Amino acid sequence: MNDLATPPSPTVSTSPAETASPPPAPTVVRRLDYRPPAWLVPDIALDFALSLDSTRVTSRLRIERNPDAEPETTLRLDGDGLAVASLSIDGQLRNDWRMDGSDLLIDLAGDAHDLVIETVVNPAANTQLSGLYASNGMLCTQCEAEGFRRITFFPDRPDVLSRYHVRMSGDKAAFPVLLSNGNPVAQGDNADGSHWAEWDDPWPKPSYLFALVAGELLANRASFTTRSGRDVSLAIFVRPGDETRTDHAMRSLIASMTWDEDAYGREYDLDDFNIVAVSDFNAGAMENKGLNVFNTRYILADPETATDGDYDAIEGVVGHEYFHNWSGNRVTCRDWFQLSLKEGFTVLRDQQFSAERGSPPVKRIEDVRILRGSQFPEDSGPLAHPIRPDSYQEISNFYTATVYNKGAEVIRMMTVMAGPDAFRKGTDLYFDRHDGEAATCEDFIKAIEDGAGLDLTQFRRWYEQAGTPRIEAEAVHHPATQSVTLTLRQTVPATPGQPDKQPMPIPLRTALFDRATGKHHGEQLLLLTDAEQSFTFAGYDTPPVLSINRGFSAPVAIATQLPTADLLFLAEHDDDPFARYEAMQQLVVQHLVAAVTGQLDASALERGRREIGEAFAAILADSGLDDLMRGELVILPGEGYLSEQLAVNEPARIHAEREALKAWLGQHLGTEWRALHDRCAAVPYSLEAAARGARKLKTQALVYLAAGDPAEAVRRAKAQYDAADCMTDRQGALMTLCGLDDPAREEALADFHDRFAGNALVIDKWFSLQAGSLNPKAIEHTKALATHPDFTMTNPNRVRSLYMAFAANPQAFNAASGEGYRIIADLIIALDPINGSTAARFVSPLGRWKKMEPGRAKLMRAELERIAATPGLSRDTTEQVQRSLAG
Ligand code: TRP
Ligand code: ZN
Repeated sequence: MNDLATPPSPTVSTSPAETASPPPAPTVVRRLDYRPPAWLVPDIALDFALSLDSTRVTSRLRIERNPDAEPETTLRLDGDGLAVASLSIDGQLRNDWRMDGSDLLIDLAGDAHDLVIETVVNPAANTQLSGLYASNGMLCTQCEAEGFRRITFFPDRPDVLSRYHVRMSGDKAAFPVLLSNGNPVAQGDNADGSHWAEWDDPWPKPSYLFALVAGELLANRASFTTRSGRDVSLAIFVRPGDETRTDHAMRSLIASMTWDEDAYGREYDLDDFNIVAVSDFNAGAMENKGLNVFNTRYILADPETATDGDYDAIEGVVGHEYFHNWSGNRVTCRDWFQLSLKEGFTVLRDQQFSAERGSPPVKRIEDVRILRGSQFPEDSGPLAHPIRPDSYQEISNFYTATVYNKGAEVIRMMTVMAGPDAFRKGTDLYFDRHDGEAATCEDFIKAIEDGAGLDLTQFRRWYEQAGTPRIEAEAVHHPATQSVTLTLRQTVPATPGQPDKQPMPIPLRTALFDRATGKHHGEQLLLLTDAEQSFTFAGYDTPPVLSINRGFSAPVAIATQLPTADLLFLAEHDDDPFARYEAMQQLVVQHLVAAVTGQLDASALERGRREIGEAFAAILADSGLDDLMRGELVILPGEGYLSEQLAVNEPARIHAEREALKAWLGQHLGTEWRALHDRCAAVPYSLEAAARGARKLKTQALVYLAAGDPAEAVRRAKAQYDAADCMTDRQGALMTLCGLDDPAREEALADFHDRFAGNALVIDKWFSLQAGSLNPKAIEHTKALATHPDFTMTNPNRVRSLYMAFAANPQAFNAASGEGYRIIADLIIALDPINGSTAARFVSPLGRWKKMEPGRAKLMRAELERIAATPGLSRDTTEQVQRSLAG
């Protein structure tokens, strides 16, 4: 983003730094180079004179030498695209400062000074959405990770903690609501009709947690009393008109506050907790102290416009940001290499919260599906990195499924090994020991060791080594001793920069089932610590059925093929719901991998389909299952996950075989799907689990019917669309119609667009459904949508709704012509100058060329080369493309 080819810089340049500096050579930041800051900033007072295109920022810093750092005679303050409008030190105006690239350098003697720096920024021109920017006439900030330096010069690193005092003034009509972190302390009117407000945050915090919002906003208000009796005013601010869709978010917030007290003993620590929803946002949401800022998609919901999945996502993200108040804010990160300290732990906490609010096994299955769908591919591709990376060029590129989701799995393994009570002792010690500090992953591990009484010496490898461990399991029955020997072998694959790996400690919840009784003799937690290890089980007179990695106790791949009979047994009998799901997945994976690699003749193919069909029929008929769980068990493994199981990726064959299996299941279980659709369609709308389960199955039935009996699917989807009283049903029906070649498709799409015109989040769905569709013309549809009047490159939600859906559409993206790759490369090149961090997120789909069949691999590389050759690329995109090409 520091280059000449980018569009107007979001800042107004004023003297004396008139000439733009040349783009700096890519600098690599290394974890082991960490040095404590030479100067600390105990206090900062910020004064904003707000305006959409020219906001004047006056920053008063109290700076003090850090007694624990090497003394430096020069103070270096980070800046990004800023110019100094004025600078004074201890009350004296000065011009003996200099720029080093975008940083401000000041030579300083003495141990403490008062600095005043003025800068001017242009929020309306800030399309990167980092720093201070405008969204629909309102002003807001996003400072994580390095956005504060786009507002004012500052030591913009998370180990510099300051008390913030914020004053802002601006036009009363344009900005009636003025918000910042902490507590409101004063407000008033100016003589010229403008007004002002002051906020004070008593908790020292790093600059990435600073936030300011100013605009025309309405609040949904509620209150919460903490268990020690503090009354907290809660408010969710949205644009006028949206306040009717904030109740679910408010309920989720209150539930989060209660849960963190119960589950982790964590109370809220201010008198106010504010949330603001904005429609232009680079990520999901941001945990700024006392002032969370959210993407509207994780706040706004009502039954007509939000699906059950949206409701769940809102609850999870509201919880996630709230939980950061302790895991992230009260205890923050020393440097950005420690990102998983706050993100991995907070994802685990939001997963635990959502599990308790809904169905724990269904939530576990969903979390594992996300891990396998995004993190496993990342871990086996060119962008693989440990949950605590060793180096980066641009930290925005490391907000990844690995740091977040694998990070959560790593801490979850600690809970499995310690048990919940001991783990809680560990987290209590962690929060107690490091409250108010900027901590490291090592601090967390040590606190869990000390508090929970675990030895995590070898376990630290989970922080150091990238790559998904592969486990092979072999169970040998010894009739003479009526015992079983289970031999486990692990390999951790080589990843970029890490050719050789050490064995990891892998906790595997395991049970051996007696075929005759259908029962096991008690689950055991096996800890595999070596490359190869054997475990003996007594008391089996016949060969048992192995159920391993139950509940997905470790984020590993089990490479061993189980006999089909054993998988069918587990799918029906395992008392661990996750293991039942896993057996179903494995049954389908083994069949499809064999089919794709040409190992099945016609009769073996038919036999395999019949076995899967019988397992499906049993699940559809099993009265012991609830519908939410039934819905999980009938979801086929995705094409991405299937491609991970192959030595060479053949996307067209995977797609064809998987669709053929779906069609077979649609035809041979046609009666069952129709009966299921009828039964579920009769369940009235509510947010209860039974009704949600019915809705999930209703659309699943349509998915199979669409593959096996398209005419019947069109009839039913049309009826479901017309009768829909909620978005879950309407979207499921529209998705089905979108995939089929029938006039009903265009009619429904037109109706949907009309019905929800002006509702940006629903129009996003309209784009996604078409770009992500099974329809053979999905490429043409996507190209046409890119020129639709509702499409815009400046709103990340809209860009993602079209192009992320497209990149995740296996058959369209992987078209043999390479057109799908070209579309994504064109997007990256066009989006990069507007929003580099969002553009960079589209590189990874193109990066998986190494395992691809040679024709497509060449096309993918060619697109990466074309992006790399584009002049003036952002640091974000440059880094991702370089890494992807290196392989
Ligand atoms: N810290 C935020 C979270 O996980 C996410 C985040 C990181 C973010 N960087 C961002 C949000 C940039 C918006 C923009 O909760
Ligand atoms: Zn987070």
